[in-house]
Amino acid sequence: QRSEALKGKKVLVTAGGTMERIDPVRYLTNDSSGKMGFAIAAAARELGAKVTIVAARTFAQPPADVELVQVESAEQMLDEVLSRFTETDIVVKAAAVADYRPAAAFGEKLKKTGGTLVLELEKTPDILETLGRRKTGQFLIGFAAETSNLEHYAMDKLRRKNCDLIVGNNVSQEGAGFHGDTNIVQIFDAEGEVASWPILSKREVAEQLMMLAAERLPGAKGAA
Ligand code: PMT
Repeated sequence: QRSEALKGKKVLVTAGGTMERIDPVRYLTNDSSGKMGFAIAAAARELGAKVTIVAARTFAQPPADVELVQVESAEQMLDEVLSRFTETDIVVKAAAVADYRPAAAFGEKLKKTGGTLVLELEKTPDILETLGRRKTGQFLIGFAAETSNLEHYAMDKLRRKNCDLIVGNNVSQEGAGFHGDTNIVQIFDAEGEVASWPILSKREVAEQLMMLAAERLPGAKGAA
């Protein structure tokens, strides 16, 4: 039955854009509103799952009846996700995680000087890649936000990060990606394209994605 497709399952969703501190009043972030992640959490809940959202900066209303864990940075998101990973059945990494953060966090507000300011950046931990290395049966869904060569880059991320599915969105396309209420996605597994959907509301994308995951969970009817 559709409404029970994820009954008894634990789903962990990340949402929003991480904030990487520069000084006490400034940070690096991105355009993610959290809408895609929140829609996935709501859809999973509706299919009967117990849902946790680990959210960075968001501009949307989180769904009711889910656990909401608030974080700021990629590092904090990694810690919160890892501490729940062993008991989780499905992880969906819809968050837009900063790839770089300031190498030194300044304890005091940076002062304006005459010349240019050079900010040194270092890599953040890759949360999805870490999960891909450590997974022991969890179903891992990544996202790929691209502006060109969607299939090529999405497949590369799927393989490098050891995902079961990856949801590619071309964020330069009208109606897709950050902020809006719609998305246009292509979904891939290790064999290649699984689905290519026309423009849909983020809620519809979320519902269909969660149904796809439910069908592919170990033990599901028809699962490999
Ligand atoms: O929040 P909205 O406004 O609704 O917008 C939705 C969205 C565009 C943010 C969403 O659809 C999306 O594409 N999310 C992934 C954004 C992203 O960080 O993509 P990426 O291609 O840079 O990263 C690939 C995957 O690795 C993602 O699952 C990301 O969560 C993960 N990652 C990336 C870097 C990092 N340090 N750790 C990670 O886990």
